[in-house]
Formats: sequence, structure tokens, C-alpha cells
Amino acid sequence: MTTVQFSEETYKKIKELIARYPEGKQKSALIPVLHVVQAEHEGWLDVPVMDHVAETLGILPVEVYEVASFYSMFNLNPVGKYVLEVCQTGPCMLRGSDKIMNHIKQKLNIKAGETTPDGLFTLKPAECLGACGYGPMMQLGKTYRENLTVEKVDELLEELKKLA
Ligand code: FES
Repeated sequence: MTTVQFSEETYKKIKELIARYPEGKQKSALIPVLHVVQAEHEGWLDVPVMDHVAETLGILPVEVYEVASFYSMFNLNPVGKYVLEVCQTGPCMLRGSDKIMNHIKQKLNIKAGETTPDGLFTLKPAECLGACGYGPMMQLGKTYRENLTVEKVDELLEELKKLA
């Protein structure tokens, strides 16, 4: 039995997610459950949290680790308030995603995978996010920022700093 506890609201959401699948198929709810749990835990999943997900769904911890470590939308280390996921796949590369990535690194003084010391930004390279016609692009939370330029990135970072 793990010591982690989720909020009442999270347990309620998990119950609703499990109810969408046939009896005994609660494992099918794993991905949406991980999204809910990650949102409650400052945007990342540590081992005790994943273990409690396994316990709640009645599955093996390794089944949770496998899924959480496979998909880039789940973070296994602490992240900043804003996670900038810059697509690094071919079509975005051809349209200058390298330039965007390098600009962000220089501007925030961090490497890919790192978080700024103020905890505001994490920079993550991402594989194709399905918006190839609008590259270079990045995912920011639930939104896509497309046709990026260095100027657009600067504006975005300033906007986010003001919101923080
Ligand atoms: Fe960047 Fe597909 S290559 S979204």
C-alpha cells in the first residue's frame, strides 16, 4: 500500500474514467488517468505517484511505468510552469526548428530537457506533433504555437513571464 493519496476530485475523475470501459478492463483508462494525476502533481509523475495509480487501477506498477515512460506527454522529472515542447522532426527541421530551439536555449540559458532556475520554463524536444504543415511549431500545454519565428518566440516568452 503506497502512502500517496490523491484529492477527492481526482479519485472521482478516475472513477468516471474507469466507468467508460467494460468491467475488468480498467487498465484501458490508464492514459487519461495519468493525465489527471499528472495535472494534480505539478505536471510530473514520480514513482510513488505511479505506484498509487497502479494500486488504484489494480494493475502492476511496471504497467504504469511502461506507459508513462513511452509517451512524451508524461514527465518523469519535475518541470517548469510552462513546458515548451519544440518539434524536432523532419518537416519542422526543414522549416527551421533548429533555429527556434537554439534561440530558446540561448534566451533562457538552458539546454534541452532543462528547467529555468525560477521554475518557469522547461524546454523539451518533441517528435512530430502532427502539425507538420505549420512548422516550425511547439506544444505549450494544450495549445499549439505554429509557424514560429524568433520574434514570435520572444513575444510568447514575454507574454508568459507576465502571466506568471
Ligand atoms: Fe513537426 Fe510534424 S514534423 S509537427
